[in-house]
Amino acid sequence: MQHDEQIRVIEGLMTHLDNDTNVDAGRQVKNPVSVYTDPARAVEEWQTFFQSYPHVIGLSDDLPEPGTFFTNADLGKPILCIRDKDGQFRAFYNVCRHRGSVLETAARGHKRLFTCPFHAWSYSSSGDLVAVPKEHHFGEIDRSCHGLVPLPCVERYGILWVHPDKNGQIDLDDLLGDQLSEELASWDLGTCARRGETMFPHDCNWKLAIDTYGETYHFEALHKDTLNYNFYGNTQLYDTYKRNHRMALCIRPIDAMRTRPKESWHVLQGALPVYYLFPNIQLLFGADGPTLVRIYPDAVNPNKSRSEIGWYSYPDSVRERVGPVFAEYMTQMSLDERIQAFAAVIEAEDYVAAASNHVGALSGAQDHVLFGRNEPALHHYHNAYNEALGLAPLEWV
Ligand code: FES
Ligand SMILES: [Fe+2]
Repeated sequence: MQHDEQIRVIEGLMTHLDNDTNVDAGRQVKNPVSVYTDPARAVEEWQTFFQSYPHVIGLSDDLPEPGTFFTNADLGKPILCIRDKDGQFRAFYNVCRHRGSVLETAARGHKRLFTCPFHAWSYSSSGDLVAVPKEHHFGEIDRSCHGLVPLPCVERYGILWVHPDKNGQIDLDDLLGDQLSEELASWDLGTCARRGETMFPHDCNWKLAIDTYGETYHFEALHKDTLNYNFYGNTQLYDTYKRNHRMALCIRPIDAMRTRPKESWHVLQGALPVYYLFPNIQLLFGADGPTLVRIYPDAVNPNKSRSEIGWYSYPDSVRERVGPVFAEYMTQMSLDERIQAFAAVIEAEDYVAAASNHVGALSGAQDHVLFGRNEPALHHYHNAYNEALGLAPLEWV
């Protein structure tokens, strides 16, 4: 984030605190509960958003060096992501070209050759078929046309994108636009180190899990004994970038910034920026490092979903530049303990609330839910979703 934008964010948050105001969408809107529960809708969105749309699948440090790989089945098909021997990010169907076995079964690792467990055909990190055991018995194979089947993939701004359709296209300039592209580039995500991953299944529609990241109105209630110690709830800035958006959450150490010269400010000293990348990504910039939340529906069941949360840390130079910004009780924790504490809040508070929303949606109590003036991210997210499905915008109250 450019420094003048960092100052705008911090000053905007201070103004809200001073005036007891918050971001204001200007109106309330209604969202039909059926969008969370309708099985036909679940099939439509799986096809539209999860089979036919580019997806963020990780950050650069998920493939830290040549020969490293990870596998992924979140998009309903086996995918193998590799950094090849030249350092290039590649993605393939994780499917052997002989009889179609899943080639690599480990979640992640480091290999020079990928050998199929069934008959031991082997592929290089570039996806080339390099060994066929007993080829004089099997018969000759034209190796040049039996390499792993590639998927479109792009590594940019330290982020890994894959298209789950081999004939798909990834046009990041179109998806993100200039402004968001520049801002993502400014975070130097390629310098961030992977710390680990957490997976949470949830008993709710995937969009309800996303909705929990869409406002801070709930902080003083739901997170009263946890995040509320370090955040001013119901205080945020909000900006949109095509189908994507950025929320700037307000953390309490913003108070100490008032006496420091603006030239010395870093946005992470008083804010926690959260980027939403359509359709299913939340990218949070905490004081320790970025957190990449990928939220997936079940392919057919609207009542189930899950989160894959990747934890990363900034280089020491960034953390030293930002300085200490944690509540007292958090300064006693190690970085990994803070990650675990944050994960526990997401699991035990946010996703419990999302599952409760889902019970309410299934109950038949009401035919719509409300998004307030102070919840503009929910307006924009659901309007972007509607627009992408060719539906009308949310109805005003
Ligand atoms: S299916 Fe992979 S080697 Fe036979
Ligand atoms: Fe929350």
